[in-house]
Amino acid sequence: MRGECFSEKMEYEVYIHVPFCLRRCGYCDFNTYTATDLGAGASRGNYANMVIREMRTVRRWQLDHGIDEPAASTVFFGGGTPTILPASDLVRMVDAIRDAWGLASDAEITTEANPDTVDADYIRELADGGFTRISFGMQSAVPHVLRTLDRTHTPENVAAGVLAAGRCGLRSSVDLIYGAPGESLDDWRTSVRAAIDLGVDHVSAYALTVETTTKMGRRIAAGTLPKPDDDDEAAKYEIADDLLSAAGLQWYEISNWARPGQESRHNLGYWRNVDWAGMGPGAHSHYAMPDRPDDGRGRGEDAYGIRSWDIAHPRMWGRKVSLDEVPWQGEETITYDENAEETIMLGLRLREGLGLDRLSVELGRELTADMFRPVLDEGLAVIENGRIVPTRRGRLLNDSLIAECFGICGL
Ligand SMILES: C[S@@+](CC[C@H](N)C(=O)[O-])C[C@H]1O[C@@H](n2cnc3c(N)ncnc32)[C@H](O)[C@@H]1O
Ligand code: SF4
Repeated sequence: MRGECFSEKMEYEVYIHVPFCLRRCGYCDFNTYTATDLGAGASRGNYANMVIREMRTVRRWQLDHGIDEPAASTVFFGGGTPTILPASDLVRMVDAIRDAWGLASDAEITTEANPDTVDADYIRELADGGFTRISFGMQSAVPHVLRTLDRTHTPENVAAGVLAAGRCGLRSSVDLIYGAPGESLDDWRTSVRAAIDLGVDHVSAYALTVETTTKMGRRIAAGTLPKPDDDDEAAKYEIADDLLSAAGLQWYEISNWARPGQESRHNLGYWRNVDWAGMGPGAHSHYAMPDRPDDGRGRGEDAYGIRSWDIAHPRMWGRKVSLDEVPWQGEETITYDENAEETIMLGLRLREGLGLDRLSVELGRELTADMFRPVLDEGLAVIENGRIVPTRRGRLLNDSLIAECFGICGL
């Protein structure tokens, strides 16, 4: 039976990408478009209908390929800015997931929200429609940092959103970014403390990534903004980890902290490598092979799973959806070895760590804790209950930890 060794493979998640923003933040490289970028002919008004049409096509494709997924355990709307759409559109898409696959009775249903785009009525409509969580793009609580990041919201918008969510029984998370040009260590402490004071049960804190294609990337290349500094970012990571842990939010993934039991189940699913279907321009999907042997008989270049990714531009994507064809830009087979690499990279980001049992099955040879002695001696990881768990040093030097573990596993 599929998934008998890796029980988490029985989980099924649905991601819906909403590729629209009111305006683009200068640092952001996500697949998102403003009305000006899109021009005439690509409509936000019809977007929910198109996603629902894609769901039906994908469901048919799954069944044609012997993939019969269980009811969705989590749903996540990301972007872009999902909350740029009317709340009723988001709820209709949730209803369509229930029709296509079913929804577990305790399903976690999250949307990302730009604090500018939601008010109490909007949040109430989401809660009434079955949403359980909302993740606000707070980024910073310091006005000059928000300006550098081109954010249009104020710290007060975030507080109002979190309060409204709490009144409707929704769990709240906030996203923070550290390392913006001009942000001092004290600015960062202010932002982390402000997030804690909001009373949220979950915080994501990301180091600013600078992509050369963004407005910020061009300004840094031209020398009009300073480059983020690795030591400054490491110091800010430690500040976040210290302040959040002291406030009762424990790290459970390198960039994520939560009160016990309030982790994002959806994101944990990605890191545990479960099956998910992604809808919308640029969204990725990931399925285990329906007939995959999970008893150690699969090896090396044998097929372990399938990955596909949707066409990135909304107009091209929409054309394909209208033909009732899967709107994919591409698809590829994931081999057992490639999957083992992903298991290592993802597992070493997690507080629960990397299970040696599972990795041994995926690699087809037994791995012992002793083989990992070099990374333990360097203080990058510890062994807990047969799992390799990164230390804080291992979180800060995660790329080195992963590279060493690849070497130890012969990958
Ligand atoms: C799709 S956005 C969240 C929702 C909404 N669009 C917003 O920004 O308010 C997801 C998160 O990715 C993070 N992010 C985006 N670009 C980033 C970058 N270049 N470096 C670090 N984090 C980034 C931000 O924290 C952002 O909140
Ligand atoms: S950070 Fe969020 S609001 Fe800003 S451009 Fe990216 S997706 Fe849009």
